[in-house]
Amino acid sequence: MANLAGIILAAGQGTRMKSARPKVMHEVAGRPILGHVMAAMREARISRVVVVTAADAEEIRNYVAREGGESVVQEQQLGTGHAAACAGALLAEFPGPVIITYGDMPLVVPDLFATSFLVQADTGMSIVAFQSDNPAYGRVVFGSGRILDRIVEYKDANEDERRIRYCNAGIMAVPAKQFFRWAAMLKNDNAQKEYYLTDVPNHAKKDGVRCAVVECAETVAMGVNSRAELARAESLMQARLRDEALHMGAGLRDPQSVFLCYDTVLEPDVQVEPFVVFGPGVVVRRGAQIRAFSYLEGAEVGRNAVVGPYARLRPGAALAEDVHIGNFVEVKNSRVGRGTKANHLAYLGDATVGAGANIGAGTITCNYDGFDKHETVIGDGAFIGSDTALVAPVTVGAGAYVGAGSTIAKDVAPDALAVVRAEQVEKPGWAEKFRTRKKARLAAKRSK
Ligand code: UD1
Ligand code: CA
Repeated sequence: MANLAGIILAAGQGTRMKSARPKVMHEVAGRPILGHVMAAMREARISRVVVVTAADAEEIRNYVAREGGESVVQEQQLGTGHAAACAGALLAEFPGPVIITYGDMPLVVPDLFATSFLVQADTGMSIVAFQSDNPAYGRVVFGSGRILDRIVEYKDANEDERRIRYCNAGIMAVPAKQFFRWAAMLKNDNAQKEYYLTDVPNHAKKDGVRCAVVECAETVAMGVNSRAELARAESLMQARLRDEALHMGAGLRDPQSVFLCYDTVLEPDVQVEPFVVFGPGVVVRRGAQIRAFSYLEGAEVGRNAVVGPYARLRPGAALAEDVHIGNFVEVKNSRVGRGTKANHLAYLGDATVGAGANIGAGTITCNYDGFDKHETVIGDGAFIGSDTALVAPVTVGAGAYVGAGSTIAKDVAPDALAVVRAEQVEKPGWAEKFRTRKKARLAAKRSK
């Protein structure tokens, strides 16, 4: 389908969220709600996406620009119809149909937009409805033959209308030029003194344009107005992402306890144990295991690697094939070569670690001097003894050994041994004498 436009309404205050953050910037599965709507529009091949924002919503406009959309400002929040009309500044002369939707619908899927356009092309106009008894939604009153008669906002509805289960999802497809003409005719003589988008079909009807109703499930078009609805949307999205991951061949032993991001990639035969959280930007290659209680973000895990239990991978962690990252190991902005093991209690930050290296328990890369970050390089096959502090910038050559407990501040040559340790002092019999003295003193005290 060529030449489609989208308008996303995102200028409302979102007061029901009780948050300083604009409602549409709250995240679902690691992406702002608005980002989900924009992505669905992109996937539905909608070529121009215009987001309506409040005057002070700089954060939203920057986000929209990064995501390849355009923005217009609605100076005053006079209602959804007024907001959509503001997009006329960019789309008034748009030659094709436009889809108008709300920015608070994180679960929307591209197919719903595509279907709306197809039905619109057939009938002249379309809206989307789902069944729900939530009083937050406007009610859809059918005319004859599944054609819309009108939409009534709950606050304006009478008893009979409030009992209707068909609700307005908030997706409307209509030729752009007609839309802006009808939007200009809206009045605010209603319960909320607002210009309602939902009154646009009344003007279409007067012009003899029929509006068809596309039906969907509430789980793909619910609106998020409160924290409780945000939590419900998150849980529905998680269920969807887990099903997709399983379908693609990943093994999730307890799907309910694994939290995914919108962009998490789990290749076939990845095994994920319970209680694992994936932040944005994670790719896990075939056969890798992510063990319980691990937290990963911005990381790539190579084939057959093992991560966790209790591991943390932060942005820029790139693990090659067969790497083992064990309990209480944190990796940040570091490449770790094939087969290397860091199995216990370590921190690798800003490091480049070769293949087949062994990072002992308690190894720390001291990458930060309070101002700058510095790099640590560990060569192939190097052996870093337990409790080593590597003071970056520093290089340990391939095949070198670092003795346990060392603080390494100078480069170590390949195949050398570096040990930084005070010499061990041994006093024969000292402990026995110490104990005898202490016990004698204790006995003297007691006999007093
Ligand atoms: C709206 C619909 C209702 C529908 C429900 C679906 C209207 C009048 N009502 O109600 O029929 O069932 O969504 O979720 O359309 N916005 C602006 N400018 C404004 C007002 C709102 O940009 O002046 C934006 C908001 O940021 C939001 C969207 O429009 O993203 C919807 O507004 P909201 O207040 O959430 O509408 P609802 O009361 O949920
Ligand atoms: Ca809403």
